[in-house]
Amino acid sequence: MPDHAAPRPLTARAGAPLAGTAAVPGDKSISHRALILGALTVGETRITGLLEGQDVLDTAQAMRAFGAEVVRTGEGAWSVHGVGTGGFREPQDVIDCGNSGTGVRLIMGAMATTPVTATFTGDASLRRRPMGRVTEPLALFGARAWGRAGGRLPMTVVGAADPVPVRYALPVPSAQVKSAVLLAGLNAPGETVVIEREATRDHTERMLRGFGAAVTVADVPEGRVITLTGRPELRPCAVAVPRDPSSAAFPVCAALIVPGSDVLVPAVSRNPTRDGLYVTLREMGADIAYLDPREEGGEPVADLRVRAGALRGVETPPERAASMIDEFPVLAAVAAFAEGPTVMRGVRELRVKESDRIDAMARGLRACGVAVDETEDTMTVHGRGGDVPGGATVAVHLDHRIAMSFLVLGLASRRPVTVDDAGPIGTSFPGFDALIRGLGGDLA
Ligand code: S3P
Repeated sequence: MPDHAAPRPLTARAGAPLAGTAAVPGDKSISHRALILGALTVGETRITGLLEGQDVLDTAQAMRAFGAEVVRTGEGAWSVHGVGTGGFREPQDVIDCGNSGTGVRLIMGAMATTPVTATFTGDASLRRRPMGRVTEPLALFGARAWGRAGGRLPMTVVGAADPVPVRYALPVPSAQVKSAVLLAGLNAPGETVVIEREATRDHTERMLRGFGAAVTVADVPEGRVITLTGRPELRPCAVAVPRDPSSAAFPVCAALIVPGSDVLVPAVSRNPTRDGLYVTLREMGADIAYLDPREEGGEPVADLRVRAGALRGVETPPERAASMIDEFPVLAAVAAFAEGPTVMRGVRELRVKESDRIDAMARGLRACGVAVDETEDTMTVHGRGGDVPGGATVAVHLDHRIAMSFLVLGLASRRPVTVDDAGPIGTSFPGFDALIRGLGGDLA
C-alpha cells in the first residue's frame, strides 16, 4: 500500500438482515510463512489458497529480492523455487515490507544467520513499530542491526557469518518474535530453543515440521518450550492455506449485531492458538453453531452458522489475549451492542499493532456515542444493549482492522459510520466490501 495513495472513505449503514455465505480469503500468517519457508527450501513449493493481500505480496517480492523464484500460477496459486537454508542472496535494494509487521519481523529472522546485509523499511505505520523485540534475540545468534531511535525502521541487518544457536525466553507474547528466532535457528548449528509463557499462534512450528524440520514442543510449568534442530534439509511440500479466522471474525461479528441475520462462514479455524474470539462470543451468548468439523490445510476447521441475537458483556482474561490478539478491535465493536460492560484484560500489545488499537477504538467508539475506559493494559467498552448512535467519521490510522471494525459497527448503528480510509483493508482482506455487500450489507 503506497504511503501516497489517496484516502478512500467508506460508509456503512444499517439495513436489511445479513444472509448468505461469507467465504473469507486465506490466512495471512500462514501465507507469509508459506512463502518464506518455500524460499528457504531447495526445489518447488506449491501453494494454494494464498492470501493475495498487499502484506503477503510484499513478502513475495522480498523473497524474490533474496534470490527465490516466486511465481503466481493462478488465483491464489503460487510456486516458489527456494534457495535453501543459508542460501539467501544479498538484496540489491531496500526491502519494503509495506504495512506488515509479520513480514518484516519474520524476514529479518530468516536472513539473520546468513552473511548478507539487508535494509528494511515500510509505510508510516510500520516505521512507528518496535523492531528491537526481534533484533535483540537475533543479536544472540551473532546478527547486528542499526535502525532509527527506539529500534524503528528503516533498519539495516547484517546476518551472522558464524551463527550460534540460541535459547530465548520471550519477554512479550509474540508469535512474530518466536517465529523470527525459529527461522534464524534454521541456519544455526545445534538446538535453538524458544520459551513462551503464553501459547501464541503455532503456525511456524507446524509448518516447519511439514517442511521436514525437527521441532519439539513441551508444556512445562513455566510455559511452552519449543526446540528446533538447526541445519535441517528442508524438503518442498504442498501448502494448502486455510481461510483466515481473523478475517472471518468480521462477517461473524456483523451477523451477530445486525438484527435478523443468519450467515454461514465456512472453514473457520479451531486452532486453540487462534480461537479466543469465538470462545468469548459464545460466552456473550452468541448463537454460533459449529458444523461439519474437519481438517483443512493442517488446521482443525468447522463451518460457522451465525445468527443475530442479544449479547451480554463479559471479561476476557489476560491468558486468553494471545489467542485473540487481532480480534479485540472487532470484539470492541460487538461489545458496544451488548448489555453491560465488556472488560478486555492483558491487552497492552494492542498499543504496538498497525496502530495503537486501544486508542483508535476508544476514540472512534466515543465518537459513535459509546463509553470506553482504558488503562495501559485494559479496555472496557460499556455496551448499550443494541442501541449504538453511530453518526461519526472515524480515523483508521493506516490500520485495516480498525477500518473493518468500524464498518461492522456502522452496519448496525442508528446513524451511518464512515471510515476515513478503507484503503488499508487490502493488506489483509481484499474483497471485504464485496463480501459484505453480497450478504446484503450497505457499504458505499
Ligand atoms: C502474527 C502474530 C501477531 C499478530 C499478527 C500476525 C503472526 O503479532 O498480531 O497479526 O503471523 O505471527 P505479534 O507477534 O506481534 O503478537
